[in-house]
Amino acid sequence: MLLEIARVLNEAQLAKVNEILAGSEFVDGKLSAGMAARQVKLNEELKKEPKQMELLLRILVSSLAHNKIFNSAALPYRMADPIFARYRAGMHYGDHVDDAIMGKSGPRFRSDISMTLFLRDPESYQGGELVIRTSFGARKVKLAAGDAVIYPSSSLHHVAEVTAGERMVALLWVQSHVRDPARRELLYELNQAREQLLQQAPEDETTKLVDRSFSNLVRMWSDV
Ligand code: NI
Repeated sequence: MLLEIARVLNEAQLAKVNEILAGSEFVDGKLSAGMAARQVKLNEELKKEPKQMELLLRILVSSLAHNKIFNSAALPYRMADPIFARYRAGMHYGDHVDDAIMGKSGPRFRSDISMTLFLRDPESYQGGELVIRTSFGARKVKLAAGDAVIYPSSSLHHVAEVTAGERMVALLWVQSHVRDPARRELLYELNQAREQLLQQAPEDETTKLVDRSFSNLVRMWSDV
């Protein structure tokens, strides 16, 4: 499932993140790429200074922890430290799939879900669309600052060349406690029905049945 999530960061969080990034050093993105990705990757990434990373991480992780749509769609178990990527004019990232195993510095984990969080006004740069191949064709994604897209990490994707201005994004990988994307999608939809029922008719027998089935499906499919 490819899902856009609006306002992962609010105005104040976005301003703070961009302020930290404006005063930071960026390095060649090839340094963090796997062997295949290195051939097609042309961007820059934030040099990981512990102090800045801690601040950025705090903002991002706390906003995601409170985001209902993200939690319901991703069913997160572990998350990697985010990468902040900058694309200046002429930069792009060719077709690739993200690394399967993440977490070089900390505990290792499997990437099930990739997230791109857009940090700049889409009018301020040209090109730079994230293009994700899905079974329904290619989807081009370029979102408002503060909005994010999540998609299965197994999807082939690329970043179109930036032709003017500067694209800045945060990238994050999640290991879900439900590995199979089809099961996650089913749980996401069932949970929406469940929440609506819990609001409209909390005492209804149907609500209790759906609620119980949802919990037991999560238990059945969770590989925590
Ligand atoms: Ni990627």
